[in-house]
Amino acid sequence: MAMIEVEDLHKRYGPVHALRGISFEVERGVLTGFLGPNGAGKSTTLRILAGFLGATEGRVRVSGFDLSTHRLEAAQKIGYMPETSPLYPEMKIEEYLRFRAELKGVGRSKRTEEVGRACELTRIADRRRMLIRDLSKGYRQRVGLADALLGRPPLLILDEPTAGFDPNQVQQVRALLDALREDHTIFLSTHILSEVEATCEEAVVIHEGRVVASGNIEALRQRKRAGVVEVTFHRGEGELKEAALDTWLTREHAIASARRRRTEGELETWRVTLGPGVDPSAIAALVARLVHAGAGIQAVEPLAASLEEVFADLTGGTPDDDDDDPEDEG
Ligand SMILES: Nc1ncnc2c1ncn2[C@@H]1O[C@H](COP(=O)(O)OP(=O)(O)O)[C@@H](O)[C@H]1O
Ligand SMILES: [Mg+2]
Repeated sequence: MAMIEVEDLHKRYGPVHALRGISFEVERGVLTGFLGPNGAGKSTTLRILAGFLGATEGRVRVSGFDLSTHRLEAAQKIGYMPETSPLYPEMKIEEYLRFRAELKGVGRSKRTEEVGRACELTRIADRRRMLIRDLSKGYRQRVGLADALLGRPPLLILDEPTAGFDPNQVQQVRALLDALREDHTIFLSTHILSEVEATCEEAVVIHEGRVVASGNIEALRQRKRAGVVEVTFHRGEGELKEAALDTWLTREHAIASARRRRTEGELETWRVTLGPGVDPSAIAALVARLVHAGAGIQAVEPLAASLEEVFADLTGGTPDDDDDDPEDEG
């Protein structure tokens, strides 16, 4: 049984249809990223999972407990870190976490140890007597994270856990996630693709309230392997000599886009992307068309898509690494 099972989940905020029937599963023991641009519906989904918000329609099970009938049982399995933690500014960190531990049913005798452990893990032990009011955003995030760890719930649901941290602190959070993944199933949201690449094994990608992809990170990356190719050629003396090649290359329906990547003397290297679902044999047809038009082909090289490109494709954005060198994409 999967740790999280979501089936055809809908959420409407009045006229806003934020979740439009999303379904996915998160397997036990797997660190899964919930990826999508701002406004995609991540926080809404996580609030519903954590039992803080009711769904409009659909079914959610956590560790086998249906949220509509067994919300409390499900909640005991979950440590939830909201996007902005509802902290009490006039409380000290330690005081606040003890209070939270009590609410979560951690026995009095265990509370000190449990709060101590959470503070150590999130590196706030040295500030435990500080007022929450006086903490920076990064430290507040850590308190939120410490809160989620109290009681050692098997499932951690973390809403943008690295938001508000500087790069150094992001590394610390990643190291912490790495340590926690041993004993926890972790489902974390982010709008930053590299976050998912750096930490997660699986990803669920959402866009405008719909799941647009899910699965193993490597499998997502491979999605377009057959669909992107770099062709190096010289134009020859025929019809290509003065042609606008981007238009010429995309004239066939199968080719979604074409971009010049490099020029070396007479040789031009173009990156050609097939349309979604197009059979890779379209590449052979393209090469034949180039040859027929007088081009001299020097190389045809299939590329692994960067996850940025896959993500941009899925969410209708443009990859922001347009000018990177594909040779460097590992
Ligand atoms: N309380 C609310 N009332 C009305 N609309 C909301 C509310 N919360 C979120 N939304 C809308 O729902 C959509 C999804 O938001 P959210 O779940 O916060 O996305 P994400 O976390 O992926 O950025 C957005 O269009 C957002 O404006
Ligand atoms: Mg959000």
